[in-house]
Amino acid sequence: MTKSDLIDKAKQASENAYAPYSKFKVGVALLTKSGKVYTGCNVENSSYGLSNCAERTAIFKAVSDGEKKFKEMVVYANTDKLFTPCGACRQVISEFSSNMKITIVSAKEILETTIGDLLPHEFHL
Ligand code: THU
Repeated sequence: MTKSDLIDKAKQASENAYAPYSKFKVGVALLTKSGKVYTGCNVENSSYGLSNCAERTAIFKAVSDGEKKFKEMVVYANTDKLFTPCGACRQVISEFSSNMKITIVSAKEILETTIGDLLPHEFHL
């Protein structure tokens, strides 16, 4: 599974985004250490606070399937400006990995980072 395959899967997943309110469609491809790929998209709600980001959708799908060890995540949105995962998603990602590689892909830019860089000093019990 190459980076380019993961980007393609994240792009495909963004097409399933349910984002009638923000119109900001996000897709994620999450590669597990066992070699499986879980995808996710954002799912919004008319009660806005109930919306779920693409990152958490992918992680929750994987964890509910028994997968908790992750190698890397690709996040895609068809927007010119680069974006980064929200604080809630950073905390959820950091629950499962302190050094997961994260590639953020927009229409014009790519950022290669890690969850450790995005959320230093995360909360852990
Ligand atoms: N969103 C994501 O799914 N992932 C991100 O990394 C940034 C934001 C979603 C949440 C909401 O549905 C929409 O994008 C606008 O914030």
